[in-house]
Amino acid sequence: MPALVLLGAQWGDEGKGKATDLLGGSVDYVVRYQGGNNAGHTVVVGDQKYALHLLPSGILSPGCTPVIGNGVVVDPSVLFSELNGLNERGVDTSKLLISGNAHIITPYNVTVDKVTERFLGKRKIGTTGRGIGPTYADKINRVGIRVQDLYDESILTQKVEAALDVKNQILTKLYNRRAIAVDQVVEELLTYADRLAPYVADTVLVLNQALENDKVVLFEGGQGTLLDIDHGTYPFVTSSNPTAGGACTGSGVGPTKISRVIGILKAYTTRVGAGPFPTELFDEDGEALRRIGGEKGVTTGRDRRCGWFDAVIARYATRVNGLTDFFLTKLDVLTGWEEIPVCVAYEIDGKRVEELPYSQSDFHHAKPVYEMLPGWSEDISKAKSFSDLPKNAQDYVKALEEMSGAPISAIGVGPGRDETIEINSFI
Ligand code: GDP
Ligand code: IMO
Ligand code: MG
Repeated sequence: MPALVLLGAQWGDEGKGKATDLLGGSVDYVVRYQGGNNAGHTVVVGDQKYALHLLPSGILSPGCTPVIGNGVVVDPSVLFSELNGLNERGVDTSKLLISGNAHIITPYNVTVDKVTERFLGKRKIGTTGRGIGPTYADKINRVGIRVQDLYDESILTQKVEAALDVKNQILTKLYNRRAIAVDQVVEELLTYADRLAPYVADTVLVLNQALENDKVVLFEGGQGTLLDIDHGTYPFVTSSNPTAGGACTGSGVGPTKISRVIGILKAYTTRVGAGPFPTELFDEDGEALRRIGGEKGVTTGRDRRCGWFDAVIARYATRVNGLTDFFLTKLDVLTGWEEIPVCVAYEIDGKRVEELPYSQSDFHHAKPVYEMLPGWSEDISKAKSFSDLPKNAQDYVKALEEMSGAPISAIGVGPGRDETIEINSFI
């Protein structure tokens, strides 16, 4: 049976939580493969709203096993508070599996994230301040702490020493901060060991055996394609690979097992944090998208920057992820505009450009070339099939599909599970 990847096709917050939850009832495993608690995935079930940060959204589907893969960075204190919050609301979290190879976000990684941003001043990335970048940096520098290290105190102490050796020099000499004591960090990390123990597993083996036994595995991306460390708008990106290839490296499942890659695509565009955003709006349309779309960060509470749909980005997402489908979300938010501009190309230094430029300078200079599509005023939130949509909404979807390079197989018309038009089934 297949493995499916579901990922963000823009700059995050496309509605991945809702889409994952929708499929959660039909899959056996939902796997986070990268990122950490920088993510904020909203799931609305009936009158209940959940905000998930580190846990896969499949945790809300009783038949589903949620997995935190090796590519994820785990802040144990956040994990426990998320688990506690769900348990208090009656959600069973006992099936959770966590890779022993996942890296741990230590308190000093969080400190370094915040200090670095402050030091960058107006050049800052606008990170979520959750220690994500510094934890991945430690991983790449081979001074990271992994979940399995919590079960060998002597190894843990040596590794924390190695990690703090250079960091304390930087913190004290460059940033004028106090040095962090190895013992204190080790002591704190050890307090997490017992509670984490029942969840720790060889998730590579579990997932591959599941696939051999015809189980369905869904990979739930965090962030989005344009925030990818390799394929995004570097340096204004996150420090992992949300793109489809990340699902393989972040889980230990090979690419030949993946049969479907679904890009979650908002019917307009949003971005949180700094960095280029060609279709960003600074007028009342931008305000209206923010207000109607409820565009406030789930993790940091920051207002999201809003703009019109950008087909250049959607085409790029199709290419770098090998998308087989799109799940178009928040179409309902566009109800009420007489005409809706859609960015079909860029103008860069007087020249029309159809594809995302690889050069950062060119992308910073990109001006959107808009095509105006007719809007609709009818309430579409109750639409159950494509034919229930008003003609202009249908045409908007068809136009986006044509421009974006992959079929739109589902459309979100509201935050709830049921507020979805399913066109082609995913499983
Ligand atoms: P994620 O990070 O990709 O999971 O997305 P977020 O949860 O950060 O942001 C998406 C927001 O849009 C959440 O508040 C969702 O409840 C909401 N949402 C998702 N799909 C739809 C939709 O089709 N229509 C509307 N109106 N809201 C949606
Ligand atoms: P979900 O999964 C939107 C952004 C931050 C910042 C940049 C780097 O909910 O879509 P980081 O803390 O990762 O080092 O910050 O990435 N960012 C997100 N933006 N949605 C997210 O997650 C994000 N996770 C990180 O705002 O610009
Ligand atoms: Mg989000």
